[in-house]
Amino acid sequence: MKKTILTGLRPTGNLHLGHLFGAGTNYLKLQDDYEFFLEIADVQALTDNFNNPDKVRHNVYEITMDLLAIGIDPKKVHIFLQSKIPQIAELTVYYSNLVTVSRLFRNPTVKAEVAQKKELFGNDGESITYGFLGYPVSQAADITAFSGQLVPVGDDQLPLLEQCREIVRKFNNIYGDTLIEPEAVLSNVTRLKGLDGNEKMGKSLGNAIFLVDNEEEISKKVMGAITDPSKIKKDDPANPDICMVYYYHKLVTDNDALNTVCSECKAGKRGCVACKKELINNLVKFLEPIKDRRKKYEENPSLVKEILDDGTSYAKEKAAHTIDKVKHAMKIDY
Ligand code: TRP
Ligand code: SF4
Repeated sequence: MKKTILTGLRPTGNLHLGHLFGAGTNYLKLQDDYEFFLEIADVQALTDNFNNPDKVRHNVYEITMDLLAIGIDPKKVHIFLQSKIPQIAELTVYYSNLVTVSRLFRNPTVKAEVAQKKELFGNDGESITYGFLGYPVSQAADITAFSGQLVPVGDDQLPLLEQCREIVRKFNNIYGDTLIEPEAVLSNVTRLKGLDGNEKMGKSLGNAIFLVDNEEEISKKVMGAITDPSKIKKDDPANPDICMVYYYHKLVTDNDALNTVCSECKAGKRGCVACKKELINNLVKFLEPIKDRRKKYEENPSLVKEILDDGTSYAKEKAAHTIDKVKHAMKIDY
């Protein structure tokens, strides 16, 4: 029997290179050997975008196309939509009895997000909603609805996984052994920095290359990237290890060319503008096959819808089975 993997993505924007190198390549490796559920977490996305439903709806399709474009095979991976699985919402209600409000407030991921979202939740988080505070409970429902054993995530998600494990243990203690305690699978690539050297990447920061970016957008971003600040003139020697252009060359430039970038930079034989142009070319080339694959889906939206529908109906069967077991254990199987 194949082990079950579940992970989710909030549909709030297109995938960028950070997603690809951090998570995407990991998914591609896992898709052959596991029963793989990939959730488009639109309900979770609404917890901090409840006032912008158009954004979430648009990105459900965008992110699904991005996933297919990087090579996620819908024959192997069940890509499904969270809002179409009512059993997840149902489980969330039952699990919510097993979590204290103070434990949710102490969740480091929730805390960090609340601090970032002052506009939505107020300066001290005083306007935090019930829904947002409770999203870790709903995420526990996401995972357990499909008996997810392994959950591939970045390290920022570990507190959410811990919270899920606590819920599972408490459920099993009270109602008898029913749920499976999941384990995290950390992606082995450390988080990718933005072109400005920022640890966080995002659309609003303008420091990320999105898989859908065209040459013009890529150029603009790379031209603004942070290089070794001590290099003033074209022939000043510099240190590639503190240059974000080199950092990105390492991702998409082949070994020989990369060695040349490194040695020429150190020897003062390479100007930053030329170096950036070479990176732009390599990025464009790198993204070409991804864009080609994406095109097929862009031109055929009903195909995307069909893939989501198929994945969702498969997922729903699994979730229905879980809810039966849960209700039986809780003695509410009337
Ligand atoms: N919270 C995750 C994120 O923001 C998305 C997510 C939703 C998820 N449901 C999940 C991740 C279940 C792992 C398992 O990226
Ligand atoms: Fe960075 Fe290239 Fe300039 Fe060196 S030459 S500092 S690697 S952009």
